[in-house]
Amino acid sequence: MTATLAENLARAAEAIGNARYGVGFTGAGISVESGIPPFRGEGGVWNRYDPSILDLDTFMRSPERSWPAIKEMFTAFLGTGDRTPVEPNAAHRVLAKWEAEGRIKTVITQNIDGLHEAAGSRNLVEFHGHCRSLVCLSCGRRLPLNAETTAADVPKCPCGGLLKPDFVFFGEGIPPEALADSDEAARRTDCMVLVGTSGVVYPAASLPFLAKRNGAFVVEINPEPTSYTDAVVDVFLPLKAGEAMERLDELVSA
Ligand code: APR
Repeated sequence: MTATLAENLARAAEAIGNARYGVGFTGAGISVESGIPPFRGEGGVWNRYDPSILDLDTFMRSPERSWPAIKEMFTAFLGTGDRTPVEPNAAHRVLAKWEAEGRIKTVITQNIDGLHEAAGSRNLVEFHGHCRSLVCLSCGRRLPLNAETTAADVPKCPCGGLLKPDFVFFGEGIPPEALADSDEAARRTDCMVLVGTSGVVYPAASLPFLAKRNGAFVVEINPEPTSYTDAVVDVFLPLKAGEAMERLDELVSA
């Protein structure tokens, strides 16, 4: 007999409440209620752009092809330029609250939208980098990413080199510190809460499997089941991130 949603919420809350080393693992779905579309599924970015615009070799070969789409993604989704900046939602805020309460030790995010940091998460692993800065592919200098530094059709460093946003492109390595920190967290956690990820992009997607192999209780929050659901998940909550996290926080805090 399948458990009811209320029973599953209670089981998840109990695991989170008893966790010694809780870890959040988030994807684009946690930011959908902040107005940022996911990459896949309904309204997904990859329904409108060819993912190859974020291939590193495509960007190096023809940056003039990638930059217009990158800018549009930023101004449309991340509120840079003249758009009103997007805000964290309840799900980001609950993760930050649980960190402050010592219930979770860290959040590993695949997102580059900066909303976990804005919500107050401090022990944050930005697995795919971030969009706060540009890096020069010639001299390595970093500049802030803003409307001014990205005004040119193909932004260039004062040294003349090509500037690239500081997030991880397809075919680019994961920042070594992010790899190390996320690997340690996935090995140490006794309770991993997956929020809003389709689990299709590696190596990030391997982390819940690593956590499970090391004995973690895994909670998944996603309106849709994913490749994790039947493989490593102990409690699947078919809910949107904001509602699920608020209901879990009420139970955990009771
Ligand atoms: N609440 C929770 N989950 C949601 C919500 C919501 N309101 N809306 C959508 N989702 C779920 C979708 O069902 C989907 O499973 O969020 C997931 C989003 O999946 P993706 O768009 O594939 O995002 P993500 O898993 O983060 O992608 C990983 O792919 O394109 C690359 O680098 C990019 O970091 C990204 C990586």
